[in-house]
Amino acid sequence: MHALSLNFFSCISLSRPVLKLRIMSEEQNGKPEEWAWPELKLPDLLLTDTVRKLHEAIESEWDSLRQSACQTAAGRALWKHVTHDQLAELLAGETYLRSLYEKIKKDRCRNAREVSGVMLAVRTLWFDSKIEAALSSFDGGGAQVVLLGAGMDARAYRLSCLKETDVFEVDFPEVLQMKTTTLQAATDSINDNQHVRVIAKSLNRVAADIRDNDWLQKLQISGFVPEKNTVWVLEGILYYLSHSHAIEVLKIIADNRALTRTVLLADFMNKSSTTLSSSMFHFHSDWPDCLLPSLGFSEVKLSQIGDPDAHFGLLHDPLNLFNKLRSLPRSVQTHPDDGTPCRRLYFVQASSSPHQTTP
Ligand SMILES: C[S@@+](CC[C@H](N)C(=O)[O-])C[C@H]1O[C@@H](n2cnc3c(N)ncnc32)[C@H](O)[C@@H]1O
Repeated sequence: MHALSLNFFSCISLSRPVLKLRIMSEEQNGKPEEWAWPELKLPDLLLTDTVRKLHEAIESEWDSLRQSACQTAAGRALWKHVTHDQLAELLAGETYLRSLYEKIKKDRCRNAREVSGVMLAVRTLWFDSKIEAALSSFDGGGAQVVLLGAGMDARAYRLSCLKETDVFEVDFPEVLQMKTTTLQAATDSINDNQHVRVIAKSLNRVAADIRDNDWLQKLQISGFVPEKNTVWVLEGILYYLSHSHAIEVLKIIADNRALTRTVLLADFMNKSSTTLSSSMFHFHSDWPDCLLPSLGFSEVKLSQIGDPDAHFGLLHDPLNLFNKLRSLPRSVQTHPDDGTPCRRLYFVQASSSPHQTTP
């Protein structure tokens, strides 16, 4: 997610594991307690020359769209106690880790109701849980998971529910190449490289720009089988596309329903959210639960951060931003309390199958 949006979309009320990072010291002479923050401890692997050089190249050569892959990984890394993403630090790189770490530190020091990174943690867990549920809803026959705009996502290495599943990661060629090279560097330099082992049945990286009309063809050339049950994961990607490109991608996925059972998992920004960065964010939908049926999807379920299935015990304070937002009707565009825009991120699950009729 873009740096500008990290402030807003990465907030949360504090969770216990982060509290453990605090070291409390009380001085003998009755001075008030002081909180000391430990330094960010980077894994040795990130400090090797090879990995440093790879991340330097990302910082100097990639645009912010591609760099958003590393920012997302930084969020997963600093919320590792809940995301269990052991590769996220390596894939994020030092700069993004430090930057988010400082934000979290600041939030903690001012006792913020929302602490940076929580949105990414909740989003990650929501997608994890829905991928698992979708796979177990398929009745045999092998399944596929396609991650569109996969970035530095490490689910193929992390989720045991993917053991029997073919995974396809689609992103720009340079992003996927850098990911492969970085993971290879890790494999080469550590003895205990169990986290760098693919858990999925297979992992296929497909270099493609999903704005072009040949990405589905490229996916098929890489082994994607349109007739197999498929979970499409569109996490942190749709809003980077123009309206027409996003609709085209969704239509291509919906059209596949003629052949197989399809589950779509995606997050959508509402219009106000895209104003966080008008140069980065384009596509938005205030009512994805109306949009998706018009494209051929059914069984659309929408969640907001803080809802029972998008909570994960991380949003305790009823007055935090997310809980305040979801208590307002979705048609409300500005907070009645302070007149600020209601910036929402919707998590949406939809499905389609060959038995369905087109609307
Ligand atoms: C915010 S990151 C999210 C990455 C990943 N889904 C995750 O959750 O870790 C957005 C990713 O989308 C990719 N992306 C953006 N536009 C794309 C396009 N037109 N075609 C392919 N990938 C794209 C970027 O390169 C980046 O890796």
